[in-house]
Formats: sequence, structure tokens, C-alpha cells
Amino acid sequence: MWQAPARPVWVGRLNAMASLKLDLTHRPRRLRRTPSLRALVEETVLRPQDFIAPLFVVDGHGAPEPIASMPGIFRYNLDDLVTECRALRDLGVPAVDLFGKIDEQLKDADGTVALREDALVARAVRAVKAAVPELTVITDIALDPYTTHGHDGVLSADGREVDNDRTIASLIEMALLHARAGADMISPSDMMDGRVGALRQALDASGFERVSIMAYSAKYASAFYGPFRDAVGTSSVGKIAGPSDKRTYQLNPANRREALVEVSLDVDEGADIVMVKPAGPYLDIIRDVREMTDKPVAAYQVSGEYAQIHAAAERGWLDLARCRHESLLSIKRAGADMILTYFAKDMAQALRG
Ligand code: PBG
Repeated sequence: MWQAPARPVWVGRLNAMASLKLDLTHRPRRLRRTPSLRALVEETVLRPQDFIAPLFVVDGHGAPEPIASMPGIFRYNLDDLVTECRALRDLGVPAVDLFGKIDEQLKDADGTVALREDALVARAVRAVKAAVPELTVITDIALDPYTTHGHDGVLSADGREVDNDRTIASLIEMALLHARAGADMISPSDMMDGRVGALRQALDASGFERVSIMAYSAKYASAFYGPFRDAVGTSSVGKIAGPSDKRTYQLNPANRREALVEVSLDVDEGADIVMVKPAGPYLDIIRDVREMTDKPVAAYQVSGEYAQIHAAAERGWLDLARCRHESLLSIKRAGADMILTYFAKDMAQALRG
């Protein structure tokens, strides 16, 4: 018959735990014990030269224009752009990626203002290359900051689609313009089919074999681009005539293999660097791409990733410096060789101590 134990069971258990000594062969904590041991086994290290700073440029002589949803990021006039580029160079950041923001009145359906010889970004490239020649200057190739509808290309005659091949004709003009201005690298962010090959051929045919191509290969139709669209004034997508969003050219966030298809096409077409964008929510894609190609892999930590860390930090919910570092470390650990990030300057400063 069952009998109540003389002492409560837990007393015996407690004594056993106090004297417990596991016979463990492996104690991974041994190498986490001190800062110097942790340093010895550290696998990923961020350096200022891992970063590319995206910069927004505007015409005129106004003061830097803050972007509400991107604290610490401004649209610069050409003089201030040059000053910012010098500061980045001094901090060891090797490259900038230039994005133009123009007045609404200058936009048209075809984004022709991007193709003029005196286009804003072309002038920006000249100014930066003249003042800071050792800095790698990359330009964004896409029409969205220049079109009234905010799409990355021109629309078909019925206005219902982004016309792939006609868009590429404009992108070629834009790329040659930037190359003539002295760009070291062009970066098509439009996601049209075949644009990398077409741009490579056009650059080579015009004597710009040295100009490299960083292809936005796996660019997803992401909601994390919101703050950027405020920055370059493309929030019009879907609000006026034209396709309601960018899902007919950017990748479906649900898809993984499709990213690899895009990357292999871009590599075949002559991309020097392939990019995954956004970065933080797509670490699996960065890893996949890293494993499938020996080309350098770039990742773009986009405006929304930047904004969410800032927003939480402003509320006191996250530690800005530590989350910034961890977010970028994770992107590099996933396999990115270089990271486009709005934190480039702050990170370079922090890393230099
Ligand atoms: C468009 C472009 C976008 C970004 C870079 N180039 C947004 C879009 O596709 O609408 C987003 C960058 C960011 O969010 O930081 N050519």
C-alpha cells in the first residue's frame, strides 16, 4: 500500500543538485570566459571598409534637408555632398552610392530629366570625383526618382505595365552619362530583365570597360523601402496612373529559388558584384547567394531597417549602438562582403573609437 514519504521529496532533490558535477567532455563556455578568449574565437569582424554609404543629393544651395523617417540622414546640395564624402573618406569608408531627388515639376512620365547631359547625379559625380578622387563613386541606375508615377522604368503605351525593353534603352543612356561623368561603378536597381548584359555591352562599346556593375540581383518587393521613397520623393507609386506597386518587377518575398535564378542571370550577363536587398529580413538569401557564386556579394540594409532601429531606440526600447552593430554583423556573418547602409558613417566612427 502506498505510504507518504517521510520527508518531502524536494529536499532530497535539492541535495543531489548541490553536489551535482557533470562529467562533460565539452564545455563551450570555456572559450567565452574572458574578453581575450572571446576575441580569439571571434569569427566575424566589421571594418569601416565594409560599408557603402547611400547619399541623397538635391539641386540648389539650401541647408541639408532632414528626412523625417531617417534620423541623421539628409539630402545634400552638391557642396555639402562633397563635404560629406570627404568625411566618409577620412573615416575609411571606401564608397558612396548616389541617389538624386528632384522637384516634382521636373518629372515626366519617362523620367527624361535623368538623361540630360547636366543631370543632377552626373554633376554630383563630377563634383565628388574632382574633390575626393580616391573614393569609389557608385550611381543608382533606375528612373523612379525622375518619373511622375514613381516606377523604376517607363510605362507601356496603355500605361498598365512597366515596359522592360524601352526602360533598358533609357537605363543605357543614364549609365553612359554617369560613366562619362566619372562614375567608377553603376548599380542598376530597376529589376528589368536583361539590363545587366545590355549595360555591360553599352559600357564596353563606349570605352568604359573599367566601369563595374553592381547588380541589384535579388531585390524584393519590400515594404521596408517606405522611408527611402520619402527621401527621393517616389511615394507616388500606386497613387497615380500606372501599376499599383512594384511587384511585376521586384521579387516576391516568399521566394528563395527565384533569387538564385536572378543572381545566375546577372552573373552570366556580366555583373561584377551581385546584391541582395533588403538585408536583415533576407539573411537566408544572402547565405544562399554566398554559396552559389564566387562573385562578391553586397547586401543593402534598407531605409526601413534603419528606421525601425532608430524608432525603437528613440522610445528607449532598444540600444541604438548595439543594435546597429549587431544588425550589420549579422548581415556580414550571413555572407555579405560589403553592406550598403545608412549607418555607414556612424559605424565607421564607432569602429574607429
Ligand atoms: C528604386 C530603389 C529603391 C531603393 C533603392 N532603389 C526603392 C524602391 O524600389 O522603390 C530602396 C532603398 C531603401 O529603402 O533604402 N530604384
